[in-house]
Amino acid sequence: MTNLIGAGIFGCGGISENHLSAINSITGVEPILLFDIKKERAEARAAQFGGTPAESFGQVLDDPRVKAVHILTPHALHAGQALMSLSRGKYVLCEKPMATTLADAKRLMRADPEARRLCVIFQNRYNKSTEMAKRIISEQTYGKIITIKAEMTWHRDAQYYSDDWHGTQALECGGVLINQAIHTIDLMLYLGGAPEAVKGAVTTDLLEGVIEVEENAHAVVKFKSGIVGLLYASNSFGISEKPTLRIVCETGTLVLNGSDLLLERGSECNILVRSEGTATLGKAVYGDSHIHQISEFYRCIRNEEPFKIGAREAYNALWAVLSIYESSRTGRWVRYESIDLSESTQM
Ligand SMILES: NC(=O)c1ccc[n+]([C@@H]2O[C@H](COP(=O)([O-])OP(=O)(O)OC[C@H]3O[C@@H](n4cnc5c(N)ncnc54)[C@H](O)[C@@H]3O)[C@@H](O)[C@H]2O)c1
Repeated sequence: MTNLIGAGIFGCGGISENHLSAINSITGVEPILLFDIKKERAEARAAQFGGTPAESFGQVLDDPRVKAVHILTPHALHAGQALMSLSRGKYVLCEKPMATTLADAKRLMRADPEARRLCVIFQNRYNKSTEMAKRIISEQTYGKIITIKAEMTWHRDAQYYSDDWHGTQALECGGVLINQAIHTIDLMLYLGGAPEAVKGAVTTDLLEGVIEVEENAHAVVKFKSGIVGLLYASNSFGISEKPTLRIVCETGTLVLNGSDLLLERGSECNILVRSEGTATLGKAVYGDSHIHQISEFYRCIRNEEPFKIGAREAYNALWAVLSIYESSRTGRWVRYESIDLSESTQM
């Protein structure tokens, strides 16, 4: 097939299973080179899904068959690997978070202001429940949003943090907010609207002295629309529950519960979307929607269309995460730092 799109993989750990199985389910896309600093991981994934283990990052970028790369490495590496890949003419699909500093986030936005080369994974935007909630909110079916609450309580114990990057400031660059709750924060801002300011605090409790990153976080978010939202996120719970987002509108409350969507009106509660709950790859809490976003990524490449979630779209959630860290350090509100892409590009 002449217009085959070859994929390169950086990072062959847990989430690479979701990406590689999606790649193999898309006609005309195939894995070419897989790189991991632990070569046995690249070998294992190549044996499972196809492609060849690469010797280096550079080998993947040098190969003209590789049109698109998937960045599935520890957080601190994302922005640098994405910028390098973009500069070599590759399409980039980067796992969240796209960067770990706002300066790097802006570099990515400047490198691809129209979202034609870089796409950032926030797969939960592709859940049927999210799509329906977005439509209901845009059409104001139950009136305007009055307030919004996001809660994510998961279980991450010392075992989870025992590898060489989770729990470290150098590579994970944060804990429950930047790794787990960033999905719920992204949905909160995607559905709730543009943020204006945030104030919050983070703590390390059960795993104090074991990990360098936060386990618990709370924040108050002021939106430009004037509403106020609440966020609570924890990795200290005994189990990992479905994250919930309560969006209180004038005449009804939408409740996103994992991939389900409920509508509460007075004493009535109706299920608008019931997920099939069939997540079979990775952890069930990742949901089922990687396949939808990855399929769209390749469809956009083929059709030369912009991606739905480029760096600009991924910015607000990262801004909120990094601003809660700042607020926790200073005890102050952090105002939204709007995106001025006119400054000169410094890569
Ligand atoms: N969207 C989601 O729901 C979701 C779920 C899980 C993980 N993730 C994200 O995916 C990324 C990877 O997470 P994971 O759970 O697969 O972690 P993991 O630890 O299982 O895998 C990361 C892999 O990267 C490799 N690596 C480290 N440095 C490297 C380098 N310089 N070059 C190439 N490979 C390198 C490691 O050896 C490891 O195999 C993270 O950004 C994480 O936040 C997203």
